[in-house]
Amino acid sequence: MAKIPEDVIETVRTATNIADVVGQYVQLKKSGKNLFGLCPFHEERTPSFSVAEDKQIFHCFSCGRGGNVFKFLMELEHVTFPEAVVKVADFSHVDLDSEYRQDAQGPAVDSKTSQLIALQEQAAKLYHHILVNTEVGQPALDYLHQRGLTDETIETYQLGFAPGQRLLKPFFDQRNSDYQLLRQSGLFIENAQGELRDRFTERVMFPLRNASGHVTAFSGRLMQPADNQPKYLNSPETTLFNKSRLLFNFDLARPAIREAGEVTLFEGYMDVISATQAGVRNGIASMGTSLTTEQIYAIERTTDKLNVCYDGDEPGQRAISRALGLLNQHSHLQLSVIQLPEGQDPDEYRQAHGDVAFKQMMTTAKETPIKFQLRFLRRNKALDTDAERLDYVNQVMPLLAQVQEPVELDLYLNQLATEFKIDKSALLAQLKQTQRDVAAQAERDRPREPEKAPVAPPVTVYQQQRPLTRLERAERNLLYHLLHDRNVWAKVSSVADFCFVHDDYQVIYTLAQGYFQTHQTYQTAQFTDFIQEDRLQQLVIELETTTHAAATPREIDDYLAVIMNEAPVDEQLRQKKNQLAEASRLGDAEQQRQLVIEIVQLERQRQANKQL
Ligand code: CTP
Ligand code: MN
Repeated sequence: MAKIPEDVIETVRTATNIADVVGQYVQLKKSGKNLFGLCPFHEERTPSFSVAEDKQIFHCFSCGRGGNVFKFLMELEHVTFPEAVVKVADFSHVDLDSEYRQDAQGPAVDSKTSQLIALQEQAAKLYHHILVNTEVGQPALDYLHQRGLTDETIETYQLGFAPGQRLLKPFFDQRNSDYQLLRQSGLFIENAQGELRDRFTERVMFPLRNASGHVTAFSGRLMQPADNQPKYLNSPETTLFNKSRLLFNFDLARPAIREAGEVTLFEGYMDVISATQAGVRNGIASMGTSLTTEQIYAIERTTDKLNVCYDGDEPGQRAISRALGLLNQHSHLQLSVIQLPEGQDPDEYRQAHGDVAFKQMMTTAKETPIKFQLRFLRRNKALDTDAERLDYVNQVMPLLAQVQEPVELDLYLNQLATEFKIDKSALLAQLKQTQRDVAAQAERDRPREPEKAPVAPPVTVYQQQRPLTRLERAERNLLYHLLHDRNVWAKVSSVADFCFVHDDYQVIYTLAQGYFQTHQTYQTAQFTDFIQEDRLQQLVIELETTTHAAATPREIDDYLAVIMNEAPVDEQLRQKKNQLAEASRLGDAEQQRQLVIEIVQLERQRQANKQL
């Protein structure tokens, strides 16, 4: 297999967020700047595994493993470096030349999983082919066109059509597919005679892709309502497909979510697809069920802002209220509601008003969750008696008590006061009381509440494992600043004879000299690939995991002094003596002579130090 060039590796790396890859295996929660979770490499109850998105590295405080995204897959899936690069490239949809993947694909990690995925993807291709190229697919194609979808959109989402009952079985038989595998694919229903018949018939097919972009299931829509038949029929749960985990379009939306800094959650696939066509590409949907905590975690790993854009009808409004409650409870996401005009769903809105208006609406119709709730609570209420109004005010007070922004709060209070002709100071007094009640209730609930976001374990956990000497602390600090600060680099380079006392640091320093010949700036995730040796990689990762503020020139001088002057000469002597023994054993006379000279010098220095 051809060696993968560094620029290709770089392309793969920059197209990827390590948190997304790790997130496939570890449930990560944000705490401060970093993400934390339970280490996948050993059993533990409290999270000591962290991912630093800014540096694109992971590190476990407990077992010490760490590295970049490639290293993570190498360790977890026991693959080689090139194999890991291929995997990450596939995950991030980076096209890799086939010469890099021949061997890399090797025996699949879980060959059954990949075979099942292959079945789904072959079926998707076939359904798509039938939709766009055949006469039996024509009515379905007309249907999609008539719903305003372009050929490009149909292509992007690989929409398809499933005709009669006997499509897939002969198709897969021609390909000698494994019978048991077919049974498990969810694509068939086994009839009383034990024969496999297509599960999806006469339906427009929506392939459902997992977060890595692989088709794992389908949803099929009827073109016309039919008795006793659901509008959408989904694949059954299989080893590949878990309805409560999947987020529709998450794989395609992820880059747009990151770019926009926010995600929009829709109710249905058609809304997401419609939005994409209008240029709103950061849309996702859950599977017609209410959001699960797993889905919320997946979203939280990608962004911290979420807009809920559900249908404008009564069920849609209730669903928004429910979703807001869930999201509030299980995430730190900053929420907004995109409120659609009465009754419409996003897809209908786009069809009625066009792409431009749709895109505009995504910003203009945005409102705070409180504003939504204020309206939601008064829907279907006439509010024409005092009792009804009081009731409403009592319901909204706990909501207002959550508002942090004084200006926003004032706005709502004024609205209430004007609308219900209530004295604003009376409202304020009631609000104060509610705030006290809420605080008291929170206090009562506190001890029973399950632990929220995991907290970073104190650094001492690591230090207990291996206490650092003053010298080693100086070496680590200096090395960190050498790597990160070009001024420090220039300064240390100009110090004649500088070298680290401990070989590990010196080796890293030497490697860094090579690295900076071809790289302008230092990136940890990139540099670790440069270092072959595992132990040294870990060391470089460890350097990153203790916070270092920028160093003053004074501090750098201090580190240099510690390393160059106060460095335990004994330690150097010990090392040199070992090297001398080795040189003697090998009969390397030149090396021996050199070492003897150095040892004599060190002995003298030790004497001199003693006299100080
Ligand atoms: N859904 C489902 N089974 C059904 C109906 C709905 O799984 N029988 C799920 C689907 O995920 C669907 C979502 O609920 O995307 C929203 O339902 P709905 O609003 O009825 O569908 P739309 O997305 O509006 O689809 P369309 O516009 O084609 O009617
Ligand atoms: Mn719809």
